[in-house]
Amino acid sequence: MALDLPGITLRLAQTDDLPQIVNLERLAFAPLQSNTEIERDWFPQGLNPPGRRQFLAIEDLTRLGIGVYTQIDLALFIESQEFPTMGIAGVAVAPEGRKQRIARLLLEHALDHARTRQIPLIMLYPFQHGFYRQLGWAWVGRVHQYPVACRSLPLYPERFGIIPYDPEQHQSALQQIYQQSAARHNGWLKRQSSHWQSRLARNHGREIYCYVESGKLLGYVVFQFNFPETPLFQSLGLVVQEWVALTAEAYRGILGFLAALEDQVEVVVWNTYPEDPFPYLLKEQQRHRVAGQHSPLYGLTHRFGEMGGGFMWRLADLTAAFQLRPIQSGSAFTLTFQIDDPILGEQTLTVNFAAGQMQIVKKVAPAILKTSIAHLTELFCGLRRSTELVWTREIEFEGDRSLLQKLDIAWQSTPPFCWDFF
Ligand SMILES: CC(C)(COP(=O)(O)OP(=O)(O)OC[C@H]1O[C@@H](n2cnc3c(N)ncnc32)[C@H](O)[C@@H]1OP(=O)(O)O)[C@@H](O)C(=O)NCCC(=O)NCCS
Repeated sequence: MALDLPGITLRLAQTDDLPQIVNLERLAFAPLQSNTEIERDWFPQGLNPPGRRQFLAIEDLTRLGIGVYTQIDLALFIESQEFPTMGIAGVAVAPEGRKQRIARLLLEHALDHARTRQIPLIMLYPFQHGFYRQLGWAWVGRVHQYPVACRSLPLYPERFGIIPYDPEQHQSALQQIYQQSAARHNGWLKRQSSHWQSRLARNHGREIYCYVESGKLLGYVVFQFNFPETPLFQSLGLVVQEWVALTAEAYRGILGFLAALEDQVEVVVWNTYPEDPFPYLLKEQQRHRVAGQHSPLYGLTHRFGEMGGGFMWRLADLTAAFQLRPIQSGSAFTLTFQIDDPILGEQTLTVNFAAGQMQIVKKVAPAILKTSIAHLTELFCGLRRSTELVWTREIEFEGDRSLLQKLDIAWQSTPPFCWDFF
């Protein structure tokens, strides 16, 4: 791993570094704001609050900070198994330091730390997917968004189970049902109290409603009212930021409750994961219509939803990742992965798939799958299938082809989704 850039030292940030870091983050993400605003809004707890560590690259000659990034301790679920994960945020390089591989140095540093701590995954939200892909990250997080007329929603009777959220009464039950649901959904974060603070904060125009049955909280929805001036919304809109339903009744309760707002709310923007049955339940399969903007998408097809290209994952410690991931059961088989990694070089790993788990073995198998680390990450999380990747020639395979089908069955899984941003 090429962790060295001559003349640059990378270290954990210290309290005294705060002004430099604020300035770097301002220049990279909000150059029109003041340092005072950035410090107040982005660093209310100072540097390195619990679960977050900021690293600073310093130019030896000037002793000034030239790059910064944050590591966040996360955990998420794949097939109900908890995966320790490193989140990366706030990657910023000073304008005068750009295109000198400093960002690359920061990301190599993060990968090195993750591997030293046997962390299987690193997750981030990219400014550009290509930048991180060339360093081994894969785009795995998709969000579907449906801006639909409120009157298109189904007015389910379960809406009578919806009540307003009261922090004193509901906070702990709400957090519990989120965690329960997270364990059943790939990619959802196991939230710590710091995650909840921002999620449940009372913001102007943000509301939370709960679905309760016999005194038991079984679902909730968090949404933000907005009255944007954009032509899309001429009147009140409501953007769903998160919803959790442990039962079908809770899910129907949330939809029915939103439908009942039709006299006041014109548009509901429903954010969700691709497998959500939401689009099938609507009265109309088309997005909210804006006067003067009725062009169909294609032929006679209406515009309906949008897909967002979201977060990226990268396998970091492969041994930890393979040991943790449960697999679908099927007949046993062995595969050798020849992995091309832009940071770590070539790695070879032989894996025995048997009895619902994977075991790393020494003896190289006759079947060899040649893949980049990014494609391996796509396969590992269930987003894509090896048979498809061989067909598109994104990966190569030598050996008995039936093993590819076995691999696809073993790693079959709902692709990841995540409600949290960082
Ligand atoms: C994005 C940013 C961090 C990059 O920093 P940098 O130090 O200039 O980047 P590097 O020099 O390390 O670039 C690494 C490599 O990525 C390549 N690259 C950059 N953008 C790319 C893209 N979209 N696709 C493919 N490769 C890309 C570079 O050409 C370089 O390759 P090379 O080393 O082979 O020449 C910096 O421009 C910045 O601070 N921007 C503002 C804040 C921001 O957007 N941060 C990202 C938050 S997710």
